[in-house]
Amino acid sequence: MDPLRRTLLWASTNPWLASSLPRRRFVRRAVRRFMPGETRDDALREAAALDARGVPSILTMLGENVETEDETRAVVDEYRRVLAAAAERRLDVEVSVKPTHLGLDLGPALAARNVADLARAAAGRGTLWIDMEGSAYTDATLDLYRGLKAEHGNVGVCLQSYLRRTPADLESLLPLSPRIRLVKGAYAEPPERAFPAKRDVDAAYLSLGRRLVDHLAGGGDGFVGFGTHDPVLIRALADEARGRAGAAERFEIEMLYGIGRREQDRLVEEGVPLRILVSYGEAWFPWYMRRLAERPANVWFVVRSLIR
Ligand code: FDA
Repeated sequence: MDPLRRTLLWASTNPWLASSLPRRRFVRRAVRRFMPGETRDDALREAAALDARGVPSILTMLGENVETEDETRAVVDEYRRVLAAAAERRLDVEVSVKPTHLGLDLGPALAARNVADLARAAAGRGTLWIDMEGSAYTDATLDLYRGLKAEHGNVGVCLQSYLRRTPADLESLLPLSPRIRLVKGAYAEPPERAFPAKRDVDAAYLSLGRRLVDHLAGGGDGFVGFGTHDPVLIRALADEARGRAGAAERFEIEMLYGIGRREQDRLVEEGVPLRILVSYGEAWFPWYMRRLAERPANVWFVVRSLIR
């Protein structure tokens, strides 16, 4: 792994950096490239701006590994308010949640209760997405998903192409008519669990993406969100999905706010279904370090912000 990428991923888990760096003005300025602001209103304003361009969104409040049940209730309440505010403004907004933000470290039953509450609140408003965190949580997150799927058909889960186990996980989920968001993966993982070489991660993404398109085109039920900014993969998988009945109406490209804007415009112009994930909240430090690690050249934006 690139040493700068490794350092940034290490920084993402360092409590001292998480408490001190976000107070620096130049870091706060730099993070704005990836999030419109820290408040719910900032995120909803961006969702409205996207909606005006005909682009739906996914909102996520940043935060992970909470330590008390009360904190998880506050997170559930926050997402309820987001869903209610979006409905009031008639915005096509879905939400995406992290299992450890909803209490997975405190026990799977608590996380399941919280996600089920939100699945009920989101019923009739699209998908309630479950993010995938580091590989220590993969089994628990998939168990959570399997447990909820029978009763809450609107729940979707993220799978990461960098994990060697993902093809088997995908096969085990397909009979459930799953809603899957396919991403490459953003955490520091050992080589025995995740492909160290980017070309292998990209090849796995293409192969998993094709498997999902085949499933939908072959009469299987479900939905796929291709969560990537990679123009080669987007073109290959969008072309394939659009060309096949069954898949054409059950996929979308999902991208992050602030990344790949030119590609986003191209997709809108070509009528490819696109949804943008907008993050907000005060606990942005670990998430921001992962965004820098994805493209270490981003560190220059931070340096430029410091110089300014
Ligand atoms: P890749 O890294 O190959 O980048 C392709 C191109 O996109 C780059 O050349 C660059 O131009 C641009 N780009 C990518 N990242 C950039 C960045 N940070 N800054 C600037 N440009 C950038 N991961 C995870 O582990 N669990 C999850 O739940 C999710 N959820 C999720 C939702 C959505 C909607 C998206 C788009 C992504 C995620 N991810 C995620 C993150 C994902 O795993 C991955 O780390 C990033 O999407 C970066 O990989 P790409 O697929 O974009 O390809």
